[in-house]
Amino acid sequence: MSPILRICILFVLFWNDKCINSSASLRGVPEWDLLFQKKSNQHQSFSGSPPIHPPRPGISNPLPPGGLSKSPSSKLPPSNSEHTPLAVVDSDAAFTLYHGRNFKVIQNLIFNFSYLLIQQGGDPGARDWNVNISVFQDPLVNFTLNTNSVVGFLELLGCASKLRGVPATFGSASTCVSQLIVQGTIPTFELEGDLFDHDSSTAKPAFQALLGSSNEESNLQNQSNFISFDAWSDRGPLQRAEWIKFLASFFDMEERANDVYNKIQSNYQCLNASSKGINISKPSVAWMTYSMASGIWTFSKESFKLQLISDAGGLNLDSYNMPSYFNMSIQSDVDVFHSVISSLDVVIDETHSTDPSEYTLDNVLASANITDSSNFSFLANKRLWRYDKRVGINNALDWTEGALAQPQIVLHDLIEVLYPSPDGGILDITYFRNIANGESVVNSTLAACPRTDLTSPLVPPNVFLHFHQSS
Ligand SMILES: *[C@@H]1O[C@H](CO)[C@@H](O)[C@H](O)[C@H]1NC(C)=O
Ligand SMILES: *[C@@H]1O[C@H](CO)[C@@H](O)[C@H](O)[C@H]1NC(C)=O
Ligand SMILES: *[C@@H]1O[C@H](CO)[C@@H](O)[C@H](O)[C@H]1NC(C)=O
Ligand SMILES: *[C@@H]1O[C@H](CO)[C@@H](O)[C@H](O)[C@H]1NC(C)=O
Ligand SMILES: *[C@@H]1O[C@H](CO)[C@@H](O)[C@H](O)[C@H]1NC(C)=O
Ligand SMILES: *[C@@H]1O[C@H](CO)[C@@H](O)[C@H](O)[C@H]1NC(C)=O
Ligand SMILES: *[C@@H]1O[C@H](CO)[C@@H](O)[C@H](O)[C@H]1NC(C)=O
Ligand SMILES: *[C@@H]1O[C@H](CO)[C@@H](O)[C@H](O)[C@H]1NC(C)=O
Ligand SMILES: *[C@@H]1O[C@H](CO)[C@@H](O)[C@H](O)[C@H]1NC(C)=O
Ligand SMILES: *[C@@H]1O[C@H](CO)[C@@H](O)[C@H](O)[C@H]1NC(C)=O
Ligand SMILES: *[C@@H]1O[C@H](CO)[C@@H](O)[C@H](O)[C@H]1NC(C)=O
Repeated sequence: MSPILRICILFVLFWNDKCINSSASLRGVPEWDLLFQKKSNQHQSFSGSPPIHPPRPGISNPLPPGGLSKSPSSKLPPSNSEHTPLAVVDSDAAFTLYHGRNFKVIQNLIFNFSYLLIQQGGDPGARDWNVNISVFQDPLVNFTLNTNSVVGFLELLGCASKLRGVPATFGSASTCVSQLIVQGTIPTFELEGDLFDHDSSTAKPAFQALLGSSNEESNLQNQSNFISFDAWSDRGPLQRAEWIKFLASFFDMEERANDVYNKIQSNYQCLNASSKGINISKPSVAWMTYSMASGIWTFSKESFKLQLISDAGGLNLDSYNMPSYFNMSIQSDVDVFHSVISSLDVVIDETHSTDPSEYTLDNVLASANITDSSNFSFLANKRLWRYDKRVGINNALDWTEGALAQPQIVLHDLIEVLYPSPDGGILDITYFRNIANGESVVNSTLAACPRTDLTSPLVPPNVFLHFHQSS
């Protein structure tokens, strides 16, 4: 092993002993501490474009004067309902939460939806605003879903018992939620024509709320019970995780959401390696996708992915200064594409597959027109990964469920991917599989739910880095 690679490994192991299994011995720390303190203007930070702040809503006066406050005001008469702890959102969150007397207003700033939640005895006068606002009972007693991006958050909150039905096409990779569906505790229903009909005069089930994502083409937004849950569209790993507070507001679970988010955020920042070891050569990484329909390869510029690589101590491919796609039917495109990927140490292949268990290294070699793997270090060194390791019912990926809600586990995974153990052992990688090593998918729904009560809350694990003894 080259000295540089050894240094990389050691730097990962020593950057923050709070995130390392403390019962392992940490010989040599002072030497590496010195290394960390060196400053360098070669420091590579997040190389993507700055995250775009979602537009603030253009509603000039969305709130009745004096009727709402972001925090409890002593001028307001005491609420006649039980005190509800407020969820405090970060200033750059893509949603806002307002708590009034017996009611709440939640705004989704990505797609400009506003929701009014009225508690028992709440002020119905709050409805008379000149805005498009959907009204819900607070807390919700039941709901349905058409996006599995809510599932990871439901588990952390422990409100899966209020999920009273899902469409038969719904997929989930969650061990516990999929078992609730398979055993019929969460019934399935067939969609007919206009998707989710919430009209109780029909035979179809009626739900107080339908949680969906506005990112997907559908007419769900026109339903009065639609709640647009857009964690998946948000910019950064922690901003995405913070949507637990948005969801919690509909269930009066703000306090738990704050606790869970604080825990995830501090674990994430503890692992965050991006500012450490600045004078050490970092592995070069790209997320890339092949479109089978159009025969082109593209590199991802999605900010949360670039942020994760940067925070894991990797160097993002500068895909801004190259063609936006590579047409594999054109030889010159193939040549440029080959020269770009030959510079990469690690590749994360995001190519969509309807059946991930059938997707292997051979698919990549064929679609990238690669005959000689030895010319590509990510192939020669077997560092070609995918995030479809955990697959569930209807081929749902845990990448869009647990990984969305718990970025601290994703960051831990990526550190292990970028700075592997020198003995080649792979430690505790949850969401990624290495197809260059022939690693296959795991059917995550076949394991038993680790909680006796399948609807009880999941406690987010505090993840830490292992000490690689052999280094
Ligand atoms: C921490 O490391 C020690 C020694 O290697 C091991 O026995 C112990 O199980 C580890 N703890 C955890 C939580 O992994
Ligand atoms: C970074 O490493 C190089 C090569 O080892 C060395 O020449 C240089 O002085 C270092 N820079 C800093 C700021 O430590
Ligand atoms: C939301 O509102 C802002 C301000 O009015 C507007 O610029 C933006 O395009 C809207 N976004 C959507 C998705 O409609
Ligand atoms: C509410 O939505 C309708 C249709 O989407 C639109 O025509 C109307 O201008 C909106 N009203 C406000 C106050 O935004
Ligand atoms: C959801 O709650 C509403 C209001 O309590 C009720 O009318 C409806 O039947 C419930 N739906 C299901 C599927 O439980
Ligand atoms: C949903 O509403 C939008 C705007 O209000 C409208 O343009 C669209 O046709 C509606 N879709 C359906 C399926 O009704
Ligand atoms: C990780 O740390 C770097 C350097 O301190 C910082 O710029 C970056 O924003 C952090 N990541 C997150 C998600 O906060
Ligand atoms: C790729 O190149 C082929 C051959 O020139 C062309 O027919 C095809 O339309 C191109 N595809 C794209 C997506 O540009
Ligand atoms: C793919 O690779 C083969 C052999 O390396 C080459 O002959 C062929 O022209 C390539 N195909 C394209 C479309 O470039
Ligand atoms: C691999 O690299 C060698 C030497 O750089 C070159 O001669 C050969 O054509 C390359 N093979 C392919 C398939 O690109
Ligand atoms: C995983 O197992 C479940 C049965 O528990 C099955 O319904 C599902 O299709 C399997 N998924 C995959 C990807 O094999």
